[in-house]
Amino acid sequence: MVESPAIGVPKVRRMIAADVDTVATIEGATFSSPWKADTFLHLLDGSGPELWVLDLEGDGVVGYAVLWCILDEAELANIAVDARFRGRGWGRLLLEALLERARERGVKTVYLEVRVSNEGAMRLYLDFGFEKVGVRRDYYTRPREDAVMMARRM
Ligand SMILES: CC(C)(COP(=O)(O)OP(=O)(O)OC[C@H]1O[C@@H](n2cnc3c(N)ncnc32)[C@H](O)[C@@H]1OP(=O)(O)O)[C@@H](O)C(=O)NCCC(=O)NCCS
Repeated sequence: MVESPAIGVPKVRRMIAADVDTVATIEGATFSSPWKADTFLHLLDGSGPELWVLDLEGDGVVGYAVLWCILDEAELANIAVDARFRGRGWGRLLLEALLERARERGVKTVYLEVRVSNEGAMRLYLDFGFEKVGVRRDYYTRPREDAVMMARRM
């Protein structure tokens, strides 16, 4: 039997402009109303957003997340792991790094919205101490769906 080579653990690092095409590809394959590459490039120019990626040796960027920080509040705007690599604890790795970064920036509360049907992501957030704080009716389109608002005190 031929064994497939073991896959390592990705490094979590800041996103750079050279990552944006891969990030946009994962984004396009993941979300029904994806952000364009230009949006990520534009965000990289600002000091408010934190953009981080999972960088796997040999494969390159396999996940990313965006955290908006405004004073002592932050919004987890986006997080995705390439579908081929989900369920390996890498989303957890990325979220952990982002929350650590939020803490370093003096953020007191992190907010996010998640589709009511997205039970996997919600479980991840609950695991990290996020609590449900409300519902936004018809927040999402394609398909139209409510968002659960969640918050985590740091
Ligand atoms: C959400 C996402 C980033 C999680 O990344 P991941 O690498 O697959 O997650 P992990 O392997 O780190 O899992 C961490 C925890 O999340 C939860 N979870 C993740 N995917 C799950 C699933 N499909 N079903 C149930 N729980 C799930 C579990 O609690 C899991 O912990 P466990 O493995 O100890 O049970 C990834 O599934 C993804 O990119 N989804 C599509 C994009 C998306 O929905 N983003 C969030 C928008 S709000």
